[in-house]
Amino acid sequence: MKTFREPKKLQKWCRERKAAGRKIALVPTMGYLHEGHISLIEAAKRKGADEIVVSVFVNPVQFGPNEDYAKYPRDEKADLAKCRAAGATAVFFPTPENMYLDRHSVYVVEEDLSKGLCGARRPGHFRGVCTVVAKLFNLAHPDFAVFGQKDYQQAQVIKRMVRDLNFDLDIVVAPIVREKSGLAKSSRNTYLSDAEREMALAISRSLQDPKTVKSVAKQLEKAGLKVDYVECVDAETLEPRRKIEKGTCVLVAAYCGKTRLIDNKVI
Ligand code: PAF
Repeated sequence: MKTFREPKKLQKWCRERKAAGRKIALVPTMGYLHEGHISLIEAAKRKGADEIVVSVFVNPVQFGPNEDYAKYPRDEKADLAKCRAAGATAVFFPTPENMYLDRHSVYVVEEDLSKGLCGARRPGHFRGVCTVVAKLFNLAHPDFAVFGQKDYQQAQVIKRMVRDLNFDLDIVVAPIVREKSGLAKSSRNTYLSDAEREMALAISRSLQDPKTVKSVAKQLEKAGLKVDYVECVDAETLEPRRKIEKGTCVLVAAYCGKTRLIDNKVI
């Protein structure tokens, strides 16, 4: 397994692999890898990738000033071992300084799907996501890239970016991986105390058979969570929909103590 820190070196290697006819998959991550990320690597394998490039980068540009950029968990050594064991062929560990050069001034802004939900609560978040993902696409030349369904809005925004900016690749969205308890796997779960973990189970439970947005919110509040939003939207356009029915997606963001967790269910 190759390890790259320099964007240019990754770009050169990927260009050569592609010229040699190898099918490249990109798995973008912020590290502190868990089974959810491993399932993305596995999806890349199943889709026939010859090279699986995992990027591990806590992207400062997608965090707001009062968010958890500084304390976001990081463990490079463990991430390397997990990537190797899962069958990645290259890992990219850039630094913020070599991803964002002095006076970096170009950003990618999606102006429709990113307006609501997390986009409304985390101003600038999707600008940061789109910018870094566009850069990763330009560096890795992937035939396809794999994202997790847990970040449902993110996956839709990225698909739109790929369509509208004519990126020549496919986007694969892999299902949410859950702990036995039902809690969606997330690097941020490490912030949770045992009591909070217990409380957080209300999120996946509330999405098992959601009747109305109100009833979902009520369940969360009853468990002691602070609801950031519960919304039912059209699964493709992300426009608000009154009724939870086929073709919609119910999305939840809630604070469990200080930790903001998200989850969703496509109906
Ligand atoms: O989903 C994530 O981990 C991040 O938003 C991503 C796609 C790696 C971009 O930094």
